Amino acid sequence: MAEKIINLKNEAIGNILEAKDEKELERLKILYLGRSGKINQLTKEFPHFSPEEKIKAGRQLNETKKAIEEALENQLSAVSNQLSAKEEWFDVTEPSIKPKIGHLHLLTEAIREISSVFEKIGFVRVRYPEVEWDWYAFEGLNMPSTHPARDDFESFFVDTPAHPKLGRMTLTPHTSNGQLREMERIKPPIRMINIARCHRPNWDITHTPTFHQFEGLVIDKGINISHLKGIFDYFAVNFFGKDRRTRLRPFHFQFTEPSFEVDINCPLCLGKGCRTCKSGWMELGGSGMVHPRVLENGGLDPNIYSGFAFGWGVERTYIMRSGLKLGDIRPLYESDLRFINQF
Ligand code: PHE
Repeated sequence: MAEKIINLKNEAIGNILEAKDEKELERLKILYLGRSGKINQLTKEFPHFSPEEKIKAGRQLNETKKAIEEALENQLSAVSNQLSAKEEWFDVTEPSIKPKIGHLHLLTEAIREISSVFEKIGFVRVRYPEVEWDWYAFEGLNMPSTHPARDDFESFFVDTPAHPKLGRMTLTPHTSNGQLREMERIKPPIRMINIARCHRPNWDITHTPTFHQFEGLVIDKGINISHLKGIFDYFAVNFFGKDRRTRLRPFHFQFTEPSFEVDINCPLCLGKGCRTCKSGWMELGGSGMVHPRVLENGGLDPNIYSGFAFGWGVERTYIMRSGLKLGDIRPLYESDLRFINQF
């Protein structure tokens, strides 16, 4: 009996090691361990044995059963590892699907492009505080606290003690604070481009309480209006396209004299007037020759130096170029990917 059992064990393990797949292993399991399998067949001979023989054979059969179970399990995991190794194989030379990469936010793109147009002609990009003293945002720009011009720059004031000389703290309503800051930082020649967040308490489809402006400032000896006009036309051609020109309209700002509103010709009719633009021109933003009092406040002698400044909205300028008709500009600040992914 002992020999029969050993032979059965050897046969079973030999077959199991040869098995190539799960199906074959399942078949072998039934063949040896199943209810009418070979092991159970052997137990049928037990009734003829003496009690001692029964115990001995019983023990041997149990061990054999365990060995076969173990062999089945080991072979099963070997076979399935081989299969998954086959599935994981891939061809490294095969062209693959490109991972999706995001892109810069519309406003970041606008800021970078606008700076680079000005940097090409020697402007230096700077950044000045967005939480600013009254002096830099208003008073030093020729807008005393009682002056009605302040109404155009409705502001958020910060609830902190006022500075004895510089006054209250405000969130910058425009980037013109950069004019005085730049005059304090360096002596002329000055060619500054200051791009920053601005804040005014407005919230509707064309206004957000936070927006961006880019402020240009050029100061040197002998700077006049033709320089201002030349720079605007340079910007029009390099940012908007080769047939684009600017036009100046008289206006009023406290910190420039004379002051102008700058228009750019319509991309469709180039200034003739059409159904889209009506007059042929569209408004870009404010500008003017730096007021002598502002030069003085910046520590410069207006009898020696002159300059011009302009401050335009980043969002507005960028949207005007792309020809986007954004009915509502608020999504620019809402980080909704359904909006952002369209650009
Ligand atoms: N600061 C003005 C505004 O916010 C624009 C401006 C800048 C006008 C510089 C003249 C000179 O509208």
